[in-house]
Amino acid sequence: MTQANDPNSGADSAAVLRCWQDNAAAWTAAVREAKIRSRTLVTNRAILDAILARAPSRVLDLGCGEGWLSWSLAAENIPVLGVDAIAALIEAAKSSPSDAESAPLFRTLDYAQVPLALAGERFDLIVCNFSLLDQAGVANLMLAIPALLAPNGTLLIQTLHPDFVGTPANRSDGWRSETWQGIGEDFRGQAPWYYRTLASWRRLFVQSDLQLTEQLEPPHPETGLPASVIFVLGV
Ligand SMILES: C[S@@+](CC[C@H](N)C(=O)[O-])C[C@H]1O[C@@H](n2cnc3c(N)ncnc32)[C@H](O)[C@@H]1O
Repeated sequence: MTQANDPNSGADSAAVLRCWQDNAAAWTAAVREAKIRSRTLVTNRAILDAILARAPSRVLDLGCGEGWLSWSLAAENIPVLGVDAIAALIEAAKSSPSDAESAPLFRTLDYAQVPLALAGERFDLIVCNFSLLDQAGVANLMLAIPALLAPNGTLLIQTLHPDFVGTPANRSDGWRSETWQGIGEDFRGQAPWYYRTLASWRRLFVQSDLQLTEQLEPPHPETGLPASVIFVLGV
């Protein structure tokens, strides 16, 4: 995916979800046909390693998309609940081809529904893999995380590295759009997402009573630059 000039300053959570609704099938194909090079080269392994290093007994995969990460964890015999707002992606996740012995559970939930829908549930690891895309919805979701984390639980957030995306002149909080260039022909429109600086992410964590314990920056083998950032957080 390539960053484009931003025509999207008014985008909000509804626009984000419309985009994923429109592109659910194309996205499923792009992930399953390994068309996103940074993922196959770096970021899939990086998030899996970060999760497996913590040997979780129950994982919540927030914004699970077509489910590749939930299924990868199920193959390691880790119980997983994957949630996503887009019903077509959850359907794809449920029917994913896999030889894992026990399937993950999947539910269609918008982040706004998560606090009530999962009230009383606890996970020792919650993961958001490139799935925190809007402004206010993500801020509200972060506020809900402490109640979902088991004692000593961990939240892992993998996202584009704010210092290595776009141009240095364009590094303040705001809406951006991404084209789908290079990952398939069937995508429609551009993908809106809300850019946060590192300082802004950290403020969000403080406001949500989440402690940043580590910041991983998996390098891209071709450039040596961070391919992403993984925030490791506790309560
Ligand atoms: C880039 S995809 C990542 C999917 C998956 N985590 C992965 O690693 O392939 C972003 C996902 O976040 C989901 N998402 C974005 N905003 C959401 C919201 N408000 N509630 C639930 N899911 C959301 C989208 O539907 C989409 O599946």
